[in-house]
Amino acid sequence: MAEQPIQRGRLRPAPEHFLNEADVQAVEAGRRGFLRKALVTASAAMAATTVARAEDGDPAILTLPPWTTSLGQPVAARPYGLPSQYEKGLQRRESPGLTRMSQVSVAFTPLQGLFGIVTPSGLHFERHHQGWSDIDPSKHRLMINASDDGFIRAPRVYTVDDILRLPPVSRMHFIECGANTGMEWGNVAVPTVQYTHGMLSCSEFTGVPLRTLLDDCGVNWKKARYVLAEGADGSSMTRTIPIELVESGEVLVAYGQNGEMLRPENGYPLRLVVPGVQGVSWVKWLRRIEVGDQPWATKDEAIHYVDLLPGGQHRQYTSIQECKSVITTPSGGQMLLDKGFYNISGLAWSGRGKITRVDVSTDGGVNWRSARIDGPVHGKCLTRFNIDWVWDGRPAILQSRAVDDTGYVQPRYGQLRAVRGTKSIYHNNAIQSWKVAETGEVSNVQVL
Ligand code: MTE
Repeated sequence: MAEQPIQRGRLRPAPEHFLNEADVQAVEAGRRGFLRKALVTASAAMAATTVARAEDGDPAILTLPPWTTSLGQPVAARPYGLPSQYEKGLQRRESPGLTRMSQVSVAFTPLQGLFGIVTPSGLHFERHHQGWSDIDPSKHRLMINASDDGFIRAPRVYTVDDILRLPPVSRMHFIECGANTGMEWGNVAVPTVQYTHGMLSCSEFTGVPLRTLLDDCGVNWKKARYVLAEGADGSSMTRTIPIELVESGEVLVAYGQNGEMLRPENGYPLRLVVPGVQGVSWVKWLRRIEVGDQPWATKDEAIHYVDLLPGGQHRQYTSIQECKSVITTPSGGQMLLDKGFYNISGLAWSGRGKITRVDVSTDGGVNWRSARIDGPVHGKCLTRFNIDWVWDGRPAILQSRAVDDTGYVQPRYGQLRAVRGTKSIYHNNAIQSWKVAETGEVSNVQVL
């Protein structure tokens, strides 16, 4: 169904905010010119309306609206709050081409419409290998066992209540799917930041360090080298996780997300939080942890999230999400309505620690300026950057380049491909480029 577009600042939204069925077919058929034309027409109409209002005297200031002259809605009219009806175009969306081609199930976060670093729980991206279920917590269990004698003293089965009784910790972290930005390896140039980078979200997670549970089961920290995490869904998602990450106390068995229980799509009632590591290891609907001394090489580890390198070799178990950033506004599919001042805003993150700097270029990487980092900066967490820009109406190429506290600098496509080749799908952290045309239209381009 067609949705009302959201206008913020002097930017028109990306067309995917309000895709209808005909638009979806146009995207699938690669006829994006159709959408651009529609957007230009809509923008022209909007600009004309604004001018007419200014000449007549703005009724929005001259006339008292009904919400000032009548009673509002009663308290608790909505016992569980919802966004304004005027924001309903901002949604998680499936990429029609991607989902229909490969039968994978992904709904992307609309990064272009968000502020700060927290992803609202209802807009957290979703990636399921076998769909999601709303599991009754009273029937859910977490078992901790070992692949052999001697790894743990006392295997245990926990109820969700058992876990809720233990001392909790809360931490802000990003989660990024290893396949995020995957289409760009093949230079497919999907149209919007929602589809290039939207398998990325950030929340405050609350739970119990997995270390606490392993201690409770009497783990032999000297002998244990890895744990295997298993989900309760039909895919029986299983991933090997190095014991150092668990022993450091960073890995959580989480039940809370942004102050409430996890949403069913994101693993209710229990999920693993593995900060800095690719999303697939954040096993949802967590039902079992096994302790052992070597990787399990399960199906999920052998067929997915493996990088094919030049020369036919492949990388497996490369799980840390390297330092990366993206400008979320202005970004692909949006339209600058006129020349003048814009705030360029974006997100940066690193699976190795904190973001220390983000540089922004408006000329395709020739000149760089350091962006402002105004918000909180946590380790392994999204970091918001902003920078002023006065658009002179000429073509421009917008880029951001992040640096983390290990000194690692986000690479250009040319640098990444020199090491990794061109056959990968996963773990693309290259610099993203958005081209601004003279018309104000913003589109996805690749700069080597
Ligand atoms: N856990 C289970 N049990 N089943 C799954 O399909 N998908 C994984 C991971 N954990 C998955 C899972 C993948 S590939 C990713 S990227 C993240 O969950 C996505 O988490 P989200 O849906 O909460 O964004």
